[in-house]
Amino acid sequence: MTTAALPLLGLRITAGPVELRGVTDDLLGPLADLAIKGVHDPDFIPFFVPWTLAPTDELPRNFAQFHWGQRANFSTARWGMDLAVFFDGELVGSQGLSTRDYLITRIGETGSWLGREFQGRGIGTAMRKVMCAFVFDHLDAQFITSSAYTDNASSLGVSRKCGYRENGVSIINRMGKPATLQMLLLEPGDLVRYEHELTVEGVPEFRRSIGLDD
Ligand SMILES: CC(C)(COP(=O)(O)OP(=O)(O)OC[C@H]1O[C@@H](n2cnc3c(N)ncnc32)[C@H](O)[C@@H]1OP(=O)(O)O)[C@@H](O)C(=O)NCCC(=O)NCCS
Repeated sequence: MTTAALPLLGLRITAGPVELRGVTDDLLGPLADLAIKGVHDPDFIPFFVPWTLAPTDELPRNFAQFHWGQRANFSTARWGMDLAVFFDGELVGSQGLSTRDYLITRIGETGSWLGREFQGRGIGTAMRKVMCAFVFDHLDAQFITSSAYTDNASSLGVSRKCGYRENGVSIINRMGKPATLQMLLLEPGDLVRYEHELTVEGVPEFRRSIGLDD
């Protein structure tokens, strides 16, 4: 698919060693392979949809279908960007943002994962800071939300370090058991910025594709 059809695929955001890039088809296999190598302990589920528990021979197709579905359903009313993350040129995981009625709400929810070998080194904090700066500075967002189970220390640690504040809790069904979800909210003035400036590519086209600058 060309970036003319879907400018999301032509987005590229770099800041020091961090690069966020649209997930083109050539990245689907490598990202799935990274997930197969492991994202979390098998008995600790950090995600609402436990996609990482799929059998090894099914995960690549499920993963690709998720991304193809996001492309197929991309609209100004509902769009998401799950970008590939490179650190020092190496593919390490994904940083996402999902939205609903963004033209009216100007709010998006972040979500992310890293291959286990890349966790606990500050990369999760760096990529979230880069995504939040991009969304505030280049997409005119007014709020960013996130949420994590209260036992997900690293995700909550990233949110805290980026400047999100606690915004209530919810109880949801996690694999048949009740789990407490911590909701988080970030406003532009509270973002703790990454030490490196952002360089962006493909932004005018992407802004038009989400209905800004019509
Ligand atoms: C969540 C995730 C993206 C965070 O990225 P990361 O690179 O591991 O996190 P960082 O190294 O930037 O850590 C951020 C902070 O979290 C805290 N933290 C990290 N790991 C922790 C742990 N195991 N226990 C307690 N605190 C922890 C630390 O306070 C750290 O701050 P510090 O650098 O001052 O010590 C990554 O761990 C991951 O992919 N986890 C599995 C998937 C997941 O949970 N996704 C989020 C779903 S809501």
